[in-house]
Amino acid sequence: MMNRIARRTLLAAALALPALTALAAPLTLGFSQVGAESEWRTANSASIKAAAKEAGVTLKFADAQQKQENQVKAIRSYIAQKVDVIAFSPVVESGWDTVLKEAKAAGIPVILTDRAVKVADESLYVTFIGSDFVEEGRKAARWLLERAAKTPSAALNIVELQGTVGSAPALDRKRGFEEVIKANPKLQIIRSQSGEFTRAKGKEVMEAFLKQRDKKIDVLYAHNDDMAIGAIQAIEEAGLKPGVDIVIISIDGVRGAFEAMKAGKLNVTVECNPLLGPQLMALAKEVVAKKAVEKRITVNEGVFPAEVAAKELPNRKY
Ligand code: AHR
Repeated sequence: MMNRIARRTLLAAALALPALTALAAPLTLGFSQVGAESEWRTANSASIKAAAKEAGVTLKFADAQQKQENQVKAIRSYIAQKVDVIAFSPVVESGWDTVLKEAKAAGIPVILTDRAVKVADESLYVTFIGSDFVEEGRKAARWLLERAAKTPSAALNIVELQGTVGSAPALDRKRGFEEVIKANPKLQIIRSQSGEFTRAKGKEVMEAFLKQRDKKIDVLYAHNDDMAIGAIQAIEEAGLKPGVDIVIISIDGVRGAFEAMKAGKLNVTVECNPLLGPQLMALAKEVVAKKAVEKRITVNEGVFPAEVAAKELPNRKY
């Protein structure tokens, strides 16, 4: 016969069991990635996968191949699977209200990483973690303003390779850059087109820019390093010297950009840090535990001109 003390102990253990199980159960995170369009994106995906493993988070990862409809499908499947938290890097800024309302109705919190969204109701996502893209555009332009101040020329014609149409980094990097170059009327954007954040498209669009011979191109502003690297090939194939005949400014700070700077083919890169994995996992745990978190968390980033490339290259982590 079980005595009273033993019965009470058993009862207490049975009552505590669900709470203990909940504590021990690994958190499941459904992540929808934009695609694999750039060196930056590859580093970002690797960081998320490694950090999930390290943090004991069960990660469900889907690559949307740069298509919003694939991201919507992935988010809906995470809702159906009842994951604990959803995180995604939205390919474009708008068109998310419906699916985010579905996640909210299912009681699943959503974290935005890398790219932001435009929604009527900001409570549809809990928090954003990533870069300040407007500031990145401003940093790129400030570097050019300083250089232009030292260059005694009448005009500096700029061509711009934009990122994916409608994406937060393309919109914000354009805005930040334009805001700052206004200070010097010598700086004019003469052509601007999307290179979709890829090397192949960056090369193709740069070739088209170079073929239009009505105006001399002095500067290339590329919204990411991959497009700049593609454009460098186009410039060389046109018989010009990238980094010398055409000044090249880009964003990300990937290893490929540092190699191009070391070779004298790229003039400056503005850092955009893809290593968001560890912070995302910590944030996911806090969000699931219903702790208060900041609505917008941005990371600190630098500017690397070609002069420091050789010294910095061995320290680069992506
Ligand atoms: O959203 C971040 C941007 O997306 C990176 O600058 C670019 O390389 C990537 O494709």
